[in-house]
Amino acid sequence: MSKTVNGFSKLTKLEKIDWLVLNFFKNDVKVKQILMQYWNSNPVLQDLHDDFIENTISNFYLPFGIAPNFVINDKDYTIPMVIEESSVVAAASLVAKFWSTRGGFKAEVISTKKVGQVHFMFEGTNIELEKYFSQKKAALLNATAAITQNMQKRGGGILDIELRDKTSELANYYQLYVTFETMDSMGANFINSCLEAIANEFENSAIQIVMSILSNYVPECLVHAEVSCKVEELYAENSELFAQKFVQAVQIANAEPHRAVTHNKGIMNGIDAVVIATGNDFRAIEAGAHAYAAKSGRYKSLTNASIENGIFKFWIEIPLALGTVGGLTKLHPLSKLSLKLLDNPSAKELMKIVAVAGLAQNFAAIRALTTTGIQKGHMKMHLTNIIKQLGASDEEKQYLIDYFEHKTITHNAVVEAYNKLVGDN
Ligand code: MEV
Repeated sequence: MSKTVNGFSKLTKLEKIDWLVLNFFKNDVKVKQILMQYWNSNPVLQDLHDDFIENTISNFYLPFGIAPNFVINDKDYTIPMVIEESSVVAAASLVAKFWSTRGGFKAEVISTKKVGQVHFMFEGTNIELEKYFSQKKAALLNATAAITQNMQKRGGGILDIELRDKTSELANYYQLYVTFETMDSMGANFINSCLEAIANEFENSAIQIVMSILSNYVPECLVHAEVSCKVEELYAENSELFAQKFVQAVQIANAEPHRAVTHNKGIMNGIDAVVIATGNDFRAIEAGAHAYAAKSGRYKSLTNASIENGIFKFWIEIPLALGTVGGLTKLHPLSKLSLKLLDNPSAKELMKIVAVAGLAQNFAAIRALTTTGIQKGHMKMHLTNIIKQLGASDEEKQYLIDYFEHKTITHNAVVEAYNKLVGDN
């Protein structure tokens, strides 16, 4: 039986579910129940979520957690995080508290420039093209006047348009490289609309426009965040050795791409969680961050650490094209609430908060890896998940947590201990 379908998007939500259940789940009524169980009981709210994408059939929950006690540039924050990985919010909270008593995090936005490109082919000479471009430049800017009007009022707009010769990389390939300031919006729609208007104005019989699109590589939309303290304030036991191993762990991530990828993945645990909670595009952030990590030609750590004159310093530099207006930011009630929780930050302030969340997460991971190992914390979470699956009472739960305090946690061992406990009772 064919499982392809025509005109699917025109079916109602229930018709879509019926088609799905019939064709992929042998008409199992339970499947329909599960999907509908996650619908919001408020139809207006459900409609809002349905309309975010095409063919919505249900909602997919992720935990929405908060990490309190962050001090960033002397201001207190409780940071919202949306993530499924069990240890991330706990780690963020612990590290926030730790640094809150050591001066907190310092963060600063270095630059906010965004980039878009009109990619085109031209077979004539470079000189001809340059002449055409310089004659056309004012008209290119004019062509975007209706689009840029509001952005200019907010202090943003197009910063520059450059002609770039890319023929050494690909025959006949050139681009218009356009830089933007998009203020508090991430600016994807604004940038893409400007680029398409520019491309229309630029095209002629000798210029073949291939495509016009923003770049998610934004090395000039950059934020720096750091923590520092005296080495002796860093760790309870043998602070000096701890600091040294910590710096070595970062150096290893800088020297070795396999480690760097995992190291940066841990950073993105913190970054993505806040990016999602605030209604921003985590795929864009991921793409830009990893490209930046490889900017030297080799994939490296996004963080760095040093010990100088008895001071431990740990910092991150990361491109973050974020928005606090537009897109989903104010449309999704929980993103709106997240931004309110953060005191309705500007995009620049949000860049700092997100960078700090990444730095904190990396601190937690390296601290665990170079001391107790990562599994201790992870297995504790694993233990509570297994206990939950077993349907243990609060008393039984506490017994099992104490029992496994100094024992190796495996699924079998927990089930065995639980069975013995309930058998004994
Ligand atoms: C797990 O999600 C993240 C870590 O692997 C990061 C790291 O190794 O630095 C713990």
